[in-house]
Amino acid sequence: MLKIAVLGLGSRGKNYGTHFAKRSDVQITAVCDKYQSKIDKIKKLWNVPEDKCFTDEDKFFALGKVADCMLIATQDRDHYKHAMKALKLGYDLLLEKPLSPDIEECLDIEEYARKNGRRVLVCHVLRYANYYRKIQQIIQSGVLGEIELIKHDENISYWHFCHSYVRGNWRKEEETAPMLLAKCCHDMDLMYWFTGSKCKSLNSYGDLTYFNAQHKPEGAKDNCFDCPHRMTCNFEVEHQYLGRKKLIGRGKKKFLWGTYAFCTSSKKKDILNALKNDERASQWARCVFACDNNVVDCQTVNMLMENGTKIVLTANAFNEQDYRHTEIRGSKGVLIADDRGSIIRLNLFGQKPKKIIVNIIPVIKGHYGGDEGIVKATVGMLTDNHDPDMQYTWIKDTIESHRIVQAAELSRHEGGRTVDMSEIPDIRK
Ligand SMILES: NC(=O)c1ccc[n+]([C@@H]2O[C@H](COP(=O)([O-])OP(=O)(O)OC[C@H]3O[C@@H](n4cnc5c(N)ncnc54)[C@H](O)[C@@H]3O)[C@@H](O)[C@H]2O)c1
Repeated sequence: MLKIAVLGLGSRGKNYGTHFAKRSDVQITAVCDKYQSKIDKIKKLWNVPEDKCFTDEDKFFALGKVADCMLIATQDRDHYKHAMKALKLGYDLLLEKPLSPDIEECLDIEEYARKNGRRVLVCHVLRYANYYRKIQQIIQSGVLGEIELIKHDENISYWHFCHSYVRGNWRKEEETAPMLLAKCCHDMDLMYWFTGSKCKSLNSYGDLTYFNAQHKPEGAKDNCFDCPHRMTCNFEVEHQYLGRKKLIGRGKKKFLWGTYAFCTSSKKKDILNALKNDERASQWARCVFACDNNVVDCQTVNMLMENGTKIVLTANAFNEQDYRHTEIRGSKGVLIADDRGSIIRLNLFGQKPKKIIVNIIPVIKGHYGGDEGIVKATVGMLTDNHDPDMQYTWIKDTIESHRIVQAAELSRHEGGRTVDMSEIPDIRK
C-alpha cells in the first residue's frame, strides 16, 4: 500500500487527495491545513486518523517521514520552504506549481532532489490530459513536418480572472506570483514539450489595463452589496457566485465555481453569509475596480526557440469562457486546437482536412482529466511502474518553463527588451 501525506487542503489539495483516496492501493496517512474546517471536510472521507490531522505545520513535519510521498498544495511562496523540509525528511514529492517565484529557489529544490535521489513530480496537469497528449503525439509523429510557428492563446474568462487575479489569492505579485507564472507556467511547459527545444530569446509586453480605479463607474461603491450598479455590472458578486442571473457562456451548473477558496459549505445561504460577514471571504465581494490587485490582465510573449521555432503566446482576461487556442504551423501542415471542444483539426497539405475527436473532461472539473492523470502518474512513479505513454513532468523540465517566465517578466519590466535566455540562471551542475 502506498502512503501519501498531504499538506494544504484547498481546492488543489482536496482535488488530488480525493483522487488518491479513491484508489485501493493508496492510503493517506497524515494531513495538514491551517483551517480545521478543511480538515473536517475530508478526514472521514479519506479515512485519516484523528491524531494524524494537523493545523500546525511544525507538528505535521515533526512526525518525520510517515508516507512514501508528500503532496504539497500550499500557496506559491510557501512551496520552497515546504518542499525543502519534506525533501530533507526523505519524502518524494508531488509538488504544485509554481515551484517558487524565485528562480534560485527553484534551482535549490532541483539540486537538492537530484543530489539526494529524491523524485519530484510537478503538477503540470495538462501534460496528463488526453487532449494535450494527443497534440504532442501528432507533433512527434512528424506529420506536420518541421514546426515553424506556434500561436497559443491562454484565454481566461473574466469571471475566473476576477475570482483569482483581481479579488482573490493571485491578485498581488509580491504575495504569490506574477500572473504569467501563476497561470501560464503550464502554457510555457506545453511550448517546451511540443517543440522539444529550450527557448533562446524572447520579449514580452503586459500591464494591468482594465481592472483598476480608472475604470470604476461613477457612483460605484467599494463593496458589491452596497453598489447602485449591482443589477447591471457583469462582475458583481452574486452574479459571479450565486447565479443571480445567467452568465452567457458559462452555464448554470458552474455558478458555485471557486467558492471553496472562501467557504467550505456549498449551500447558497452559507456562501452569501460568508461574503457579507466573514472578514476573509468578504474580499471576494469587493468591487473589481477597487481592489489592491497589481498583476497584469493582458500579456504577450514572443519567443524564439533554440531549434528555430517561433512562438507567439498571449494571456488575457477578456473572454466569456476559459479556453486555450493553439495553432501549430509546420512545413507539411497545420494543427488547430481549441480546448473548449474535443476536436483537433489537422490540415495536412494536399490532403483532405481531418477532425480528431478526443474525449475530454471539462477544464473546470479537473483540467481535461489531467488532475486524475497526474495522480495515476504519481502512483506509477512511486511503484516504478511507469506508463510508457505518460510523459512525466519531472522538476528538471519545470525549471525551463519557470526560466521562460522569469525572462518574460524581466522583459516586460524593461519595456519589452529582448532577453537572451543566457541571462537567466539554469540548472546547476
Ligand atoms: N496545477 C494547477 O493547474 C493549479 C491550479 C490552481 C492552483 N494551483 C496552485 O496550487 C496551489 C494551491 O492552490 P489552491 O487553489 O488549492 O489554493 P488554496 O488557497 O485554496 O489552498 C491552499 C491551502 O493551503 C493551506 N495552507 C497554506 N499555508 C499553510 C500552512 N503553512 N500550513 C498548512 N496549511 C496551509 C490553506 O489553508 C489552503 O487550504 C497554489 O500554489 C496554486 O498556484 C495549481
